[in-house]
Amino acid sequence: MDPSPVLSPRLSIDRLIGELNALAQISAAESPVVTRIVFSEADLRARAYVKGLCRGAGLEVHEDAIGNTFARWRGTEPDLAPTGTGSHIDAIPNAGLYDGCVGVLGGLEAIRVLQQLGFKPRRSIELVIFTAEEPTRFGIGCLGSRMMASVLSPEQALALRDKEGHSLEELRGSAGFRGPLESVALSRGRFHQFIELHIEQGPLLEEEGIDVGLVTHIAAPASMRIVIEGEGGHAGGKLMPGRRDALAAAAELILGLEAAAKSTGAIDTVGTVGVCEVFPGAVNSIPSRVRLETDIRDIDDARRDTVIDRLKGACKEVAEHRGVSIATEMVNADPPAVCDPAILDAMEQAAHSAGKSSKRMVSRAYHDSLFMARIAPVAMLFIPCRGGVSHRPDEYASPEWIGGGVHVLARTLATLAS
Ligand code: GLV
Ligand code: MN
Ligand code: MN
Repeated sequence: MDPSPVLSPRLSIDRLIGELNALAQISAAESPVVTRIVFSEADLRARAYVKGLCRGAGLEVHEDAIGNTFARWRGTEPDLAPTGTGSHIDAIPNAGLYDGCVGVLGGLEAIRVLQQLGFKPRRSIELVIFTAEEPTRFGIGCLGSRMMASVLSPEQALALRDKEGHSLEELRGSAGFRGPLESVALSRGRFHQFIELHIEQGPLLEEEGIDVGLVTHIAAPASMRIVIEGEGGHAGGKLMPGRRDALAAAAELILGLEAAAKSTGAIDTVGTVGVCEVFPGAVNSIPSRVRLETDIRDIDDARRDTVIDRLKGACKEVAEHRGVSIATEMVNADPPAVCDPAILDAMEQAAHSAGKSSKRMVSRAYHDSLFMARIAPVAMLFIPCRGGVSHRPDEYASPEWIGGGVHVLARTLATLAS
């Protein structure tokens, strides 16, 4: 069918905004803060809420052994590989309500709009809710999609533990997800294509007044853990000469990473130390141990790797001149993803037909699509978010921006599933 009459946007947007707000209330923190860590009570309640909405739309819901959730709108030729869409509903501590959730509930809304129009997809359209896109609990992002794409093996997954020492195995079991982890891996061809709707998490679309971004590349993220062992002691009794303060050493590394990321001269290189744990963490005690978690990204993985090398070099130097020991561990170093030109063309055409302005752009944030790209042609559709703000409670996307994204997504899904 020609999806041109797609959408009576106002009506469906009210429903979608209501659902986004309702989902935001399912949080471990008080509103408006959203904190929803994978396999927590809030995560499980949020999953139940979204699965209920999917069933309400007549979708067939199933879950895999790690909790990735698939909600299928059966096509007229159900044996064909489906067209996929979706994102995540877990949220980092102190987050807002749009990251991930716009792609999940917006994907569902796109399906419902097409249903209301009487559209009959030839391919099934399958909404995917990925487990643990955020690295908060296990230190590694995109757990569900990483395992689907066989980038993380079942053995590596079994070795994962959270900060309290609970294993992934134990936590997925108590969340009700059982069965062999081997079964999470999907073969190429399981999805015909995959599209993820997401807020930009950067300022460009809003600044330029553009309705939707068509993502051509997803940046390559890497994460390195650094543990510095120095010597603790009394903050008054131990004099400055001869100190081996682990936090002072960490400070040099933090600034070293900043300098290394700036040194490439490329706007796309970024380096962040987001976690700094100090032991014993008492005001009158010299820090004896510090754990840093670093996040380094670029759209060019070779250039990103030069920053990692410089950071490793700084670790050696600082260890030597401060007399501390420094151990490093690469948590992940993923290659960038290139989005599929045919899906990009379909999205561009859909935006044009919907009367929405669009531009091609790169994603500096990572997403489950980074891993879906290993097993299917993918593309991402960005909508603006105010001030480029994300991973904060004041993250905001207007109903108009969200409606525009859902409109373009619905048209694109209609084209791809026909
Ligand atoms: C995903 O949340 C990211 O950190 O890019
Ligand atoms: Mn996020
Ligand atoms: Mn996200």
